[in-house]
Amino acid sequence: MNEQPDNSSALPSRFVLAAAPMQDVTDLAFMHVLARIHCLPDVWVTPYFRSTRTTCAMAEQPLRCIVENPTGRPVWAQLAGSSTSSLLRDAEALLRLPIVGINLNVGCPSPLVNRHGAGAALLRNLPLLREISQALRAHLSPGMWSVKCRIGWECADEFPRVLDVLCDSNPDILIVHARTRKQLYAGEPCYAAVRLAVQRASCPVWVNGDIHSVERALGCLRTVRPAGLMVGRGLVRNPYLLRQLRGGAAPTLKEMQLYYMTLLEETGCFLQRYSPAGHCNRMKKYLAFCYADFPERAEYELRRCSNPSEMARLFRFARTPA
Ligand SMILES: Cc1cc2nc3c(=O)[nH]c(=O)nc-3n(C[C@H](O)[C@H](O)[C@H](O)COP(=O)(O)O)c2cc1C
Repeated sequence: MNEQPDNSSALPSRFVLAAAPMQDVTDLAFMHVLARIHCLPDVWVTPYFRSTRTTCAMAEQPLRCIVENPTGRPVWAQLAGSSTSSLLRDAEALLRLPIVGINLNVGCPSPLVNRHGAGAALLRNLPLLREISQALRAHLSPGMWSVKCRIGWECADEFPRVLDVLCDSNPDILIVHARTRKQLYAGEPCYAAVRLAVQRASCPVWVNGDIHSVERALGCLRTVRPAGLMVGRGLVRNPYLLRQLRGGAAPTLKEMQLYYMTLLEETGCFLQRYSPAGHCNRMKKYLAFCYADFPERAEYELRRCSNPSEMARLFRFARTPA
């Protein structure tokens, strides 16, 4: 939780700033980076553990975010699945680890995940969503059950019914990515739908989707009145956004370069088998959200770069985030 902000553009006190889960992006290396540059979210949600009848959910990457969490900030473990018994089994296993609770993924648009009825596919199978939500609620202690959902599969008109189902299971936190599955990650977020969730749900609601600037965050705060903000791509592009939202300064160019260099250093430490090209490819997972802050020529070269020293040289061309 944030304490009193120190200027008028900051968010209210006791307002949660959460890092959005992003597979292959908000990983252990990224957690180390944010700790080193002193820009930590109040809370993390791991990228999803896939829970199926046959698969053990203990995927290495999200698991390390929990057991090696270097930040001292609480972590929710996210599950994506469509089998109630498997989800309960995997929730039980995760509860033995240092997590604050279980988060159900009701938003992942991956065709593979959706084909198995999980992620966003639960938005069009409300009886199953109800069954899973009620079972997890019954299994988890108060305070330990949260959901991250989209506002519909096809269109936002579906959201009131989704909301009814989720509210019936009394989640402790509801995180709403203000887009439909059809929109994937583009198109205008519909914050009005999140406002509806704030009005109807008896739990705190966090808003997610395109919160990439202080102006956007404050606009959401005014219109949606959420209890928290969850930031994904905007955080990767500008991790100092969290500091700005807490009333601090926008990043300097030097700080942005420090961020990229720290990312380069940390990703190198976490590669299973080191190769310069592999190191650069890993970096490109993060840089995909940062290219807008480089001149065209530098972006072109970064996208093709296979030498970490050359990548470090290209970071000198960075601009501060717009
Ligand atoms: C590369 C990538 C991976 C993601 N992985 C997850 C995930 O594992 N679980 C999840 O709930 N959402 C995942 N998301 C969605 C984000 O958490 C977030 O809801 C979405 O990016 C919108 O927020 P933003 O505009 O702040 O990025 C992912 C998004 C991206 C771009």
